[in-house]
Amino acid sequence: LNAPSSIRLAQPQTAAEWDIYYDLRWRVLRAPWNQPRGSERDALESESVHLLASIPNGAVSGVGRLHFNSPHQAQIRFMAVAENFRGQGIGSRILQELERRARERGATSIVLEARDTAVPFYVRNGYATLGPGKTLFGALPHQRMRKEWAAASVR
Ligand SMILES: CC(C)(COP(=O)(O)OP(=O)(O)OC[C@H]1O[C@@H](n2cnc3c(N)ncnc32)[C@H](O)[C@@H]1OP(=O)(O)O)[C@@H](O)C(=O)NCCC(=O)NCCS
Repeated sequence: LNAPSSIRLAQPQTAAEWDIYYDLRWRVLRAPWNQPRGSERDALESESVHLLASIPNGAVSGVGRLHFNSPHQAQIRFMAVAENFRGQGIGSRILQELERRARERGATSIVLEARDTAVPFYVRNGYATLGPGKTLFGALPHQRMRKEWAAASVR
């Protein structure tokens, strides 16, 4: 992995950045299955932590989102890296920063539902498979996954 160390990870701030953020989510996770604009959002947007990854020239390469299911359990959804930026460690950088923020806020575990094709990515990042999850759009089986750590190790 050689993700540019200069990659910038931040929550979108301006209206234009929020548009770019949701557009990337839609293009990677929804458009290929003919899902309409708007289907890339759920009811938890306002209470979530959002990360947008950009490279030094300003190009936006990836996104990810974190919310809490309970005080100690966080969940990640909507991880997406633009196709031409994949395999460079950007997804891992987004994931690690979401994990850092989860721990900072008191999480001792993170759960997610991974598309079967993304399971190896999460396994390499320390997640264990729990069992089958939902199937999206009648075509995309998911696995439920979890990563946990000892409360004592939380900074
Ligand atoms: C899953 C995803 C977020 C990972 O992002 P990423 O920036 O490619 O992740 P990384 O570069 O950190 O790791 C990617 C791994 O995928 C593999 N990979 C290499 N080239 C790749 C490519 N062009 N496309 C996808 N995966 C690739 C590599 O094995 C790499 O692992 P390794 O180099 O550590 O062995 C991204 O591939 C993606 O958006 N996929 C489509 C949407 C999706 O499935 N999202 C997750 C929904 S649960």
